[in-house]
Amino acid sequence: MTIRINDKKAPDAVVALMAQTDQLPAQLTDIATRAGIDAATLQNDFKAEAKETTILYAGDGSPRRMYLLGLGKKSGFPEVLAAMRAFGHRYKAKLPARLGIDLRLLPSTQVTRSVDAAVTGLLLGQYDIGLYRKPADEKPVFGSAKSALEILVPSAQMAEAEHAARRGAVFAEATKQIFDWVNAAGNRKTPQMIAEWVLKAGQEFGFKATIMDTATIQKEGLELLWTVGKGSPHPPLMLWLEYGTKTRKTKTPSLGLVGKGVTFDTGGISIKPSANMQYMKSDMGGAAAVLGAFMVAARLDLPIRLVGAIPLAENMVDGLAVKPGDVVGSFAGKTVEITDTDAEGRLVLADGLAYLLKKETPDALLDLATLTGSIIRAIGTQAAGLFSKNDALVNNLAQAGEGCGERLWRMPLWDEYGTDLKSDVADLRNFTGKPMAESISAAKFLEHFTGEHPAWAHLDIAGMAFGDSEFAQTKSATGYGIRLLVEFMERYLTNEGKLN
Ligand code: BES
Ligand code: MN
Ligand code: ZN
Repeated sequence: MTIRINDKKAPDAVVALMAQTDQLPAQLTDIATRAGIDAATLQNDFKAEAKETTILYAGDGSPRRMYLLGLGKKSGFPEVLAAMRAFGHRYKAKLPARLGIDLRLLPSTQVTRSVDAAVTGLLLGQYDIGLYRKPADEKPVFGSAKSALEILVPSAQMAEAEHAARRGAVFAEATKQIFDWVNAAGNRKTPQMIAEWVLKAGQEFGFKATIMDTATIQKEGLELLWTVGKGSPHPPLMLWLEYGTKTRKTKTPSLGLVGKGVTFDTGGISIKPSANMQYMKSDMGGAAAVLGAFMVAARLDLPIRLVGAIPLAENMVDGLAVKPGDVVGSFAGKTVEITDTDAEGRLVLADGLAYLLKKETPDALLDLATLTGSIIRAIGTQAAGLFSKNDALVNNLAQAGEGCGERLWRMPLWDEYGTDLKSDVADLRNFTGKPMAESISAAKFLEHFTGEHPAWAHLDIAGMAFGDSEFAQTKSATGYGIRLLVEFMERYLTNEGKLN
């Protein structure tokens, strides 16, 4: 698809984004006058509520039409993205080969962000969740290689709009691939399948990926990862990712990323109840966010150095599976009593964090994981839990999240929460045994494997990675974390890696 800014030739259909501001009645009057329709009727019928759509046809025998798309009271990045995504989904089959997006009715200070959001939203709206269905005979006209997207902005902002449109398309392209992996069935995303795709994605997007196989995992002593994955016929793997480490100067800010990649979580011998267990195919949402961030950062050529560790494992019930009470070692050298095999995420992350820190010393270290049901009970599906003792890191992350609509909410990490993780027989146990504050004790467990890194944050994204959407009857991938991570990197870069 081609993207053009302020092209002279008018497209067959234009989506005009409109917010509920004081200017709305005047804007509608103007549109009505040009369309030759009654202004009062249009004002009556279109209120610019979020995602509200009205179609105006040209009435001159031409195919031209205009979609008025409402944003509601706010017209920030999250609102534009959500409205365009809903629109893109709803009109997927009906849009013409040349579609325009008119952003000239929004405040001019927001144009760049609006272009980025609108392009991402429209392209994501085209997503098809029917991964294992026979493709439809008729493909939508808009979205094919020959189609074009025309962006209409104030002429002074054409250059920024061009840049923003490309950026929006890069996010959408990476996010759609990540959607596919998170939505993929457990039997169609074994650690090996994901790893092979990551090698290809690395080549295509421009980052380096290496796979650590069973022999390497055992030789290196990634015992926690091995313990979680050994009950599955599809053995665990560790992925090691690098971007910019060779090409950028050593004073370039560096970031370490670790993502939980449990391809399916049955709970293991501490088995989960069967109701909704199918959703546990999304237990690699942290890994997905990290992978998406690598794809986008590399494609956008961000001036940063990134390293990533992605532990991949399937948590299964089996004769070879780890049992409650088993004691195992870890890459960091600490012994762990496994008091609950369903608290497996913190185990694979612990090895991922310790391994990353042995190989590199990044300026900041983040891990993302669908780690606990407890964070969903605490703050629901509006924000991920953010755990860190570094206030500047917390502020940078939270602001990045607020700006792109991928919210974070800080949770406590006081040391008193960690006392329940003492084991009688080992250095640590993985579950406190108490049905309280589980997302915090999980974070405290991880902290033992972060080597007291001064800028570490843990993001519990259990409530965010998989949710309601326009695509699916039940739940589906959200892509949460990709934009958050990339925009954190940009924010962090503008502070020259100083995190303040
Ligand atoms: N993958 C789950 C957490 C989860 C729950 C993610 C719901 C998404 C939706 C994790 O491995 C888990 O099972 N956590 C347990 C921990 C408990 C045993 C301490 C939980 O939250 O119940
Ligand atoms: Mn679990
Ligand atoms: Zn899990």
